[in-house]
Amino acid sequence: MPLSDFLGALKDNPYFGAGFGLVGVGTALALARKGAQVGMIFFRRHYMITLEVPSRDKSYHWLLSWITKHARHTQHLSVETSYLQHESGRVHTQFDFHPSPGNHIIWYKRKWIRVERTREKQMVDLHTGTPWESVTFTALGRNREVFFSILQEARELALKQEEGRTVMYTAMGAEWRPFGFPRRRRPLSSVVLDVGVAERIVDDVKEFIDHPKWYTDRGIPYRRGYLLYGPPGCGKSSFITALAGELGYSICLMSLSDRSLSDDRLNHLLSVAPQQSIVLLEDVDAAFISRELLPTENPLAYQGMGRLTFSGLLNALDGVASSEARIVFMTTNFIDRLDPALIRPGRVDVKQYVGHCTPWQLAQMFQRFYPSAAAGEGERFARRALTAHSELSAAQVQGHFMLHKDDPARAMENVANMQE
Ligand SMILES: Nc1ncnc2c1ncn2[C@@H]1O[C@H](COP(=O)(O)OP(=O)(O)O)[C@@H](O)[C@H]1O
Ligand SMILES: [Mg+2]
Repeated sequence: MPLSDFLGALKDNPYFGAGFGLVGVGTALALARKGAQVGMIFFRRHYMITLEVPSRDKSYHWLLSWITKHARHTQHLSVETSYLQHESGRVHTQFDFHPSPGNHIIWYKRKWIRVERTREKQMVDLHTGTPWESVTFTALGRNREVFFSILQEARELALKQEEGRTVMYTAMGAEWRPFGFPRRRRPLSSVVLDVGVAERIVDDVKEFIDHPKWYTDRGIPYRRGYLLYGPPGCGKSSFITALAGELGYSICLMSLSDRSLSDDRLNHLLSVAPQQSIVLLEDVDAAFISRELLPTENPLAYQGMGRLTFSGLLNALDGVASSEARIVFMTTNFIDRLDPALIRPGRVDVKQYVGHCTPWQLAQMFQRFYPSAAAGEGERFARRALTAHSELSAAQVQGHFMLHKDDPARAMENVANMQE
C-alpha cells in the first residue's frame, strides 16, 4: 500500500483522525522547537567561540582593565574603591572604574565581541564575602586566536604598567589586590641610611634569595624576617620600598591594626602572598602591646572572636611555608613595646636600628641634593645642623632642602631655622 493511501486510511478512521490532527500540530511544533534548539546548539558549537574567565584566575584583573580600555563607550560602570588607612591616620583611597556586570559589546580586530560580566548572587566567596564573578567572551567564528590575542594584550598592558615599577598590594578579603598604580621604582641611593646599613640589609636579602637549597637541605622553612626600628621619618618605609625596587619585588602591605583581620585571615594571606614580594607589616607595635601589660591595660587586643590575637600572629609568621622566598619586613617606632616572642630569631632574623641623622648621613644628603656644591660643604652643613639641633630626622632635612631647592647657600645659612 502506498504511504498516501495508508495515511488516507488512517485519517478516514474516526478514531485516529482527530488524534492524527492533534499529534501532527503538536509534533511539528515540538520538532520545530527542538530543531531550533539543536540548530542553536549547533550554531554555538560550530560558529561561535566563548571563553570564560573566573574571578579566581590570575588574568581576571588584567582582563577587566583590558575591557575598561576597550569598552570606553560603555555607560555602565561599576566602581571598586580601595581604601587603606595607615597607622599615622593618613588615608589613601582610589576609585577604579570597571564595566558593570551585564553585557558589553567590543569591536576588536574587526570582530564584534560580546563580553558578559556575571555575578553569582547565590554563590559567595566565604573568605571575602564577595560574590563570585566571571567574564565570558563570545565571538562569532571558529578561530580561537582572537582570545589568545586578547589575553596577551591584557597581560602586556598589565606588565607595561609594572615595568620598572613597584607594585603595591593590599589585602582585600582573602586576596591580595594591586593597590593604586604601580609606582616608579625608588632608587636605593635616594634613601641615605647610616654608613653600611643599607648594604648590610641588601646583601642579607640577596644572599637569602640566592640560596633556597641551603634551607631545603636543612629542613628549615625558607623565610626571613627583618625588623627596622627607630624614630619616625628616618627612612624605614622608604628604604623597604626602594629595596623592593632594587630586587624587582612587589610589596604586600598590611596593617595589623585592621579591625577585620582575624587569625585565619592573616594566616591565609601570608600563605597566598604573590610570588616575589615583600610582606610589609608596618607599625607592629600598634597592634599589640607587650603581653605583660595585658589584659588590663590593653583589653582590646584579646577581645572577641575573629580578631587577630598575638598568638595568631606568631602562628601565622611561623606557619609561612613556601617554596618561594618569603620575606617579611616589620617596622616599629618603639621596639621596647614589642613582645620578645615576636622578635626572636626565626620570626625576626635581622634587627636594624634606623635612627636620627648622623653627620655622615647629613653630609651625604646635602651632597646628593646639591650635587654642584663644593666638596666639604656637606660636612660643613652637617656640623652646623647638629650644632643647632640635637637630633634631626631625614624627613626634616629633606623638607628643609625642599624649601631651598636650588640654593645650597641659603640651606646652609638657615639651618638653625629647620622645621621641627
Ligand atoms: N634616610 C633617608 N634618606 C632620604 N630620605 C628620607 C630618609 N628618611 C626619610 N626620608 C624621607 O622622609 C619621608 C618619610 O620617611 P619614611 O620612610 O616614611 O620614614 P619612617 O618609615 O621611618 O617613618 C619620606 O618622604 C622620605 O623620602
Ligand atoms: Mg614608616
